[in-house]
Amino acid sequence: MKEKIDEITQEALKEIESAKGDRASLEAARVKYLGRKGMITELFKSMAQVDPAERPEAGRLINILKDNVTKALDDQLLSLAKVEEAGGRLDITLPGISRRLGKKHPITKTIDEILGIFISLGFRVVEGPEIETEYYNFEALNIPLEHPSRDAFDTFYIETVDRRPETVDQKYLLRSHTSPVQIRFMEKNKPPFSIVVPGKVYRPDATDASHSFMFHQVEGLAVGDNIRFSDLKGILSIFARRIFGSKTRLRFRPSFFPFTEPSAEVDISCIICKGQGKCSVCGGKGWLEILGAGMVNPRVFENVGYDSEKITGLAFGMGVERIAMLKYGIDDIRLFFENDIRFLRQF
Ligand code: DAH
Repeated sequence: MKEKIDEITQEALKEIESAKGDRASLEAARVKYLGRKGMITELFKSMAQVDPAERPEAGRLINILKDNVTKALDDQLLSLAKVEEAGGRLDITLPGISRRLGKKHPITKTIDEILGIFISLGFRVVEGPEIETEYYNFEALNIPLEHPSRDAFDTFYIETVDRRPETVDQKYLLRSHTSPVQIRFMEKNKPPFSIVVPGKVYRPDATDASHSFMFHQVEGLAVGDNIRFSDLKGILSIFARRIFGSKTRLRFRPSFFPFTEPSAEVDISCIICKGQGKCSVCGGKGWLEILGAGMVNPRVFENVGYDSEKITGLAFGMGVERIAMLKYGIDDIRLFFENDIRFLRQF
């Protein structure tokens, strides 16, 4: 009896091992050894013929055999299931795994749209540094020392001072507008050219629904012979109609910027009440301010070594968040920077 049990043990384990990875062969082995007429079941039945004195020992050995075979089969079936789970088998009736695509941030989307309009009008895109010197952020743009925007309250100053021998000692700061890129570009390029400059700007304003210490601007500058105020009006009208709709009307209000002369603030007819002055977005005025603009001040040209008698130019600067808020009807600038996916998903 003992020899027979040893023999079946060896045979069964060998057979199960070679049926590895094959469900049908494993099932056949199970029937062969453990089935109702299987070899191990038959062994239990044959106990009747065993000498009663040897029965307990024989029973113990057959039980061990049964346990070993059962365990070997279970192990093989388990690893087979793991292989199948890992893609060994493809069930094309299972639902697919959908992946949510990311999308552009509404500010990036708005910048792309603004730049796209100007690119179609012949402008090209230029960028400049966010850490600037007082010279580029103020002086070269004809913003004198006593101008209120030079006050530390309106600009983040950085402790480090630029003491390179080739420059006059300069205070570093976080640029408070994109206009310094006008100077950087003109120092290195000759007219005619038309550029748009997107980027981040920084101002130490207390944060509220319409103020953020960091926001984005798009600056524009077109320089050449005989550029006129009518060019500025034409370009900005095309821009406003493309971004806010073809029925948009424009209003140029006289204003002041040190780097342009004359200067204007540009309003669009309210996109909510269609300029009727009947809503809270325009405060009942019917107009919404969208940007500052003007003809480049000859002093700015002189600062970059251009002949201010011959060269003319137009310039403008707009706040991207403001444009995006008007376009999409967003009433709080902080929503752009909170990274709340429920807000961002909507664009
Ligand atoms: N730099 C101005 C600001 O930050 C915006 C601006 C106004 C830019 C008029 C211009 C301009 O180029 O011509 O408020």
